[in-house]
Amino acid sequence: MADIITLENIDVTFKQGKQVVNAVKNVNLNVEKGDVFGVVGYSGAGKSTLVRTINLLQKPTSGTVKVNGTLLFADNKQQISNKELQKQRRSIGMIFQHFNLLNETTVVDNVAFALRHSFLSDKEIEEKALNLLKLVGLEDKAKFYPIQLSGGEQQRVAIARALANDPEILISDESTSALDPRTTNQILDLLKELNAKLGLTIVLITHEMDAVKRIANKIAIMEHGVIIEKGKLRDVYLRPKEELSRQFVGGSLAAIETLKAFNLGNLSPDQKLFQLVFSAANVTKSIILELYKELGLDVSMLYGNIEVLESEPVGTMFILAKGEPDKLDKVADYLKKENVEVTRIDERGIWND
Ligand SMILES: Nc1ncnc2c1ncn2[C@@H]1O[C@H](COP(=O)(O)OP(=O)(O)O)[C@@H](O)[C@H]1O
Ligand SMILES: [Mg+2]
Repeated sequence: MADIITLENIDVTFKQGKQVVNAVKNVNLNVEKGDVFGVVGYSGAGKSTLVRTINLLQKPTSGTVKVNGTLLFADNKQQISNKELQKQRRSIGMIFQHFNLLNETTVVDNVAFALRHSFLSDKEIEEKALNLLKLVGLEDKAKFYPIQLSGGEQQRVAIARALANDPEILISDESTSALDPRTTNQILDLLKELNAKLGLTIVLITHEMDAVKRIANKIAIMEHGVIIEKGKLRDVYLRPKEELSRQFVGGSLAAIETLKAFNLGNLSPDQKLFQLVFSAANVTKSIILELYKELGLDVSMLYGNIEVLESEPVGTMFILAKGEPDKLDKVADYLKKENVEVTRIDERGIWND
């Protein structure tokens, strides 16, 4: 798939008096159409600054920004007219932690407000706004005022408003951070539904790994302005390379502690350690039993877990296999046939593919 967002070598530097803050440092990011791309990091990592470069709300200090096939920024300057930039911005919806609704205005008018520059008639605008409210499950609250709604409902209004100009891209900057866990999940599920139904590309900025785990297919982890690790959710989640990624991934921590307690340098030649990753919904055979029956290996399980990633249960297991060296070499090939991903772990460390 072609990129819908391409950021190349993005730097953003803020100067305040003598103080210089390098908020974003040499970031490269490629988002493909239809992705739900999670950007995770602690507060101050540079996430908001980075995503604001996508619609040039923040001009990069240097680097290249391309969106929807249009070069917006390169060679230290904006590449299109301001008028054209306004148009481009309408194809990028945004939602935030504090919904930023107009409190003196009804819900339907909050959505309609986003269409004030369109060529639609007042009646068409009202109709479109009502349809958008229907899309987010709020048609019965059209005449309410924002303060009469719960936080989750207010965020739904903000989502309807963000979709008013039929954007290709939706940027969500901590949009669930002020919501309770149940409401958070409902909003995330709505975003995923919009992604599937409308083909909407979503960039999901958050400090909550659980949010990314629930709906993102790709992830980038940011620290001190730098993307320290990125890739498919499943790869980064199940085989995090960097220490910070491991902190975010949390669930795998127990596995890592298990392995650290295990002296990897002390394995004998007839022992090998493997991580297995498999779709838990498709397990038909006992992997451990098969390895014993097919290869004569003696297998102990050190750690096992099932995670739900993008609503699919994914199993992960660390096993210690003992047997003849040529049989140990066949483990990966054998399990590949069973649709199990195998990573060998050796004394060089964890997840050295
Ligand atoms: N307009 C600004 N002027 C000066 N410094 C800023 C500005 N915006 C952000 N920063 C600084 O840039 C860094 C990254 O901020 P931000 O992008 O908001 O991080 P995050 O969204 O990950 O919490 C922080 O150190 C912040 O103080
Ligand atoms: Mg932020």
